[in-house]
Amino acid sequence: MTLRVSFPKDFVWGSATSAYQVEGGAREDGRGESIWDRFASVPGNIEDGSTGDVACDHYHRWREDLDLLKALGHRAYRFSIAWPRVLPLGRGSVNRPGLDFYSRLVDGLLERGIAPFVTLYHWDLPQALQDAGGWAERATAEAFACYADLVSRTLGDRVKHWMTHNEPWCSSILGHRTGLQAPGLRDARVALVASHHLLLSHGLAVPLLRQNVPGARVGIALNLAPCGPASPSPEDADASRRRDGELNRWFLDAIYRGQYPADIVADGVAAGVLTADGLPCVRDGDLRAIAAPLDFLGVNYYFRLVMRSTALAEKDNQPRTVRVAPESEWTDMGWEVYPDGLFETLVRTYLEYRPRAMYITENGASYSTAPDAQGRIEDGARIRYLRDHLVAARRAIEVGVPLEGYFAWSLLDNFEWQCGYRQRFGLCWVDYATGERTAKESAHYYRSVIEANAVVVE
Ligand code: FCB
Repeated sequence: MTLRVSFPKDFVWGSATSAYQVEGGAREDGRGESIWDRFASVPGNIEDGSTGDVACDHYHRWREDLDLLKALGHRAYRFSIAWPRVLPLGRGSVNRPGLDFYSRLVDGLLERGIAPFVTLYHWDLPQALQDAGGWAERATAEAFACYADLVSRTLGDRVKHWMTHNEPWCSSILGHRTGLQAPGLRDARVALVASHHLLLSHGLAVPLLRQNVPGARVGIALNLAPCGPASPSPEDADASRRRDGELNRWFLDAIYRGQYPADIVADGVAAGVLTADGLPCVRDGDLRAIAAPLDFLGVNYYFRLVMRSTALAEKDNQPRTVRVAPESEWTDMGWEVYPDGLFETLVRTYLEYRPRAMYITENGASYSTAPDAQGRIEDGARIRYLRDHLVAARRAIEVGVPLEGYFAWSLLDNFEWQCGYRQRFGLCWVDYATGERTAKESAHYYRSVIEANAVVVE
């Protein structure tokens, strides 16, 4: 028996990339340095010692990539603008060739009948702004607003869907607390300050996007995940609460309720990360700006988190929380395959925060399946991953979640941040020696889903 799981009419189907991960052309046509150029150049930061200098060479091969999107039946494409390509120093003088690149890209998409979904910040802060303090400084939020103004004035006649940020949790926590990502700092207090300035920059940009873009639909993409305790113990429940608070509620509460979750602020105070007055960088009116109404919420979903509390950490006298690996299936990233978590995340987020509309702005899996002797890439595991997550997404629509589209991560294998090129998330294989792209079986499968507007389960 087969089951046909149909999607609503006008459901948006696409895939996503980000500038630093695919573009390359790092020193071309006046592009400035970004924190990822700097971070990747430090030995030891990237697992395979690579950088995004060339990446997928999308900066030169963009026409071919747009043809690929078209051939794969895509209706939409989510990409990001590299801030240092349009404003090499982050503010001030504009690099026209950089803006022109994105203008041509947008025209190319529209000519092919593909809707552009733009992300303004997918982690590549201009290094000049980092040198002046980066997201720890309020001035960076103000510079972001000017950048958003410039880009939306240029592309707003053609781009209707805008996301301010991608995964501000990663920018703040991985960038400033764990040091795993650029700028590679390890300071829990600075990470919280950075998270506020990232959110503030979002709030400052929203009205500008609306003002500059007739018929704008404005949103943000958050990485959300269900968090649960590894055991019924109160300690593990607390570990799960903390993780949920830091990852999900910190951002959702700010954006949809105009407040930071009191329990997470209290954790910060107890750990000595925050002083008794909480976050002094928060000024009057900031949270109101951050809570500007949005048209949609982008959800990036990859895995769930099962949390355990371990011994008190010596440094901050706080219980450590660690992620536990359940008996399960895992991708090459070491990420658990857990499609129900997508359903749970969509439903919970909708029930608690009531976004007007939602998109899955990223979802996908790293499997390194290489071309066989015939050049075919039989990535059945990725096909199952897509199928099961799409069915979970459809279940969420069934119970009332206003989900309007799905973007697979990613169109291409690309520079997977601190993991370099070893992790392959693409629907299309990239031969990094030649730059050649080959659609994997999953890309053909995804095209058939888009054509049918349905997933067929055997
Ligand atoms: C997300 C990022 C994206 C990509 C995927 C695998 O956290 O937004 O750029 O690296 O993970």
